Amino acid sequence: MLHVVEEPIIVRAPAKINLHLAVGDLRDDGYHELTTVYQALSLYDEVAIRKADSLSISVQGEGSSDVPLGSTNLVWRAAELMAAHAGRANKGARVHIAIKKGIPVAGGLAGGSADAAATLVALNELWRVDASRADLVQMAAELGSDVPFSLSGGTAMGVGRGEQLLPVLSRNSYHWVLAFAKGGLSTPAVYKELDRLRESGAPKRLGSADDLMHALTVGDPEVLAPLLGNDLQIASVSLMPTLRRTLRAGSDAGALAAIVSGSGPTCAFLCASEEDAVNVSVEVSATGVCRTVRTARGPVHGARVVQGDPPP
Ligand code: C5P
Repeated sequence: MLHVVEEPIIVRAPAKINLHLAVGDLRDDGYHELTTVYQALSLYDEVAIRKADSLSISVQGEGSSDVPLGSTNLVWRAAELMAAHAGRANKGARVHIAIKKGIPVAGGLAGGSADAAATLVALNELWRVDASRADLVQMAAELGSDVPFSLSGGTAMGVGRGEQLLPVLSRNSYHWVLAFAKGGLSTPAVYKELDRLRESGAPKRLGSADDLMHALTVGDPEVLAPLLGNDLQIASVSLMPTLRRTLRAGSDAGALAAIVSGSGPTCAFLCASEEDAVNVSVEVSATGVCRTVRTARGPVHGARVVQGDPPP
């Protein structure tokens, strides 16, 4: 008898940075009210899902040894959520999820959220669930504040705890250099540090995103650069003071702007052109202030099914 091996569904999901991250006060549910502008960058995780006897996860690539393989991994929860949505209560999520990481773990680039979004998209296809976009977004929001954006990609404003997305008009592509740190930062710890700093003083808060939104319609990186801002930066630098040197290295190398990405510790440098980005990446790399340097462009699409070789 011919044994047919079903091909895995492979989904690629992008990293994100926050061009604007204004953190409001702590809410009763433990989250902070946010106004943020996300941009998806051409740095990806790839998730390949195939049918199996039980739910399991394997991980390879960037920082893979730090990724949990059990139920604490967001992809595990994503699979259980999609199984429940698909009415597979008895069968459960019998799949193997192979994650190929290009996005650093605990780096402030929403790598875990990218994997969760990719899992939702892949299972929707594998099990032929035909979930509506609205259902996918709702499941994504249940999984984490950044997961809806990992689904949508592009450039978008996030409000609430970051999970409610509004469209943003954006022209052109931007060129970035990303500096990965030696080690990661815990997102809750960074938010807590910001609360602590705000209790003991009054770090300046970001204003509205209006000017930045206007700059995005113009599409000129020189106009956008001075408008980038991140309220969490002071907290991530407080927890990892070496980031000051990384940020300075980016500016010294000729970047138009240097910011911490999300809760960090990845730093993002906006550059005037692709050529400038290559030069900045070489120069920052030579200073030895960070673990690895990558160039990326944004905006790019959200989680999408792709053709290609699955991770083993
Ligand atoms: O939503 P997500 O699970 O990604 O959030 C991780 C943690 O980051 C939360 O538990 C919370 O401590 C912090 N957070 C926050 N306010 C937000 C988003 C995240 O305080 N808007």
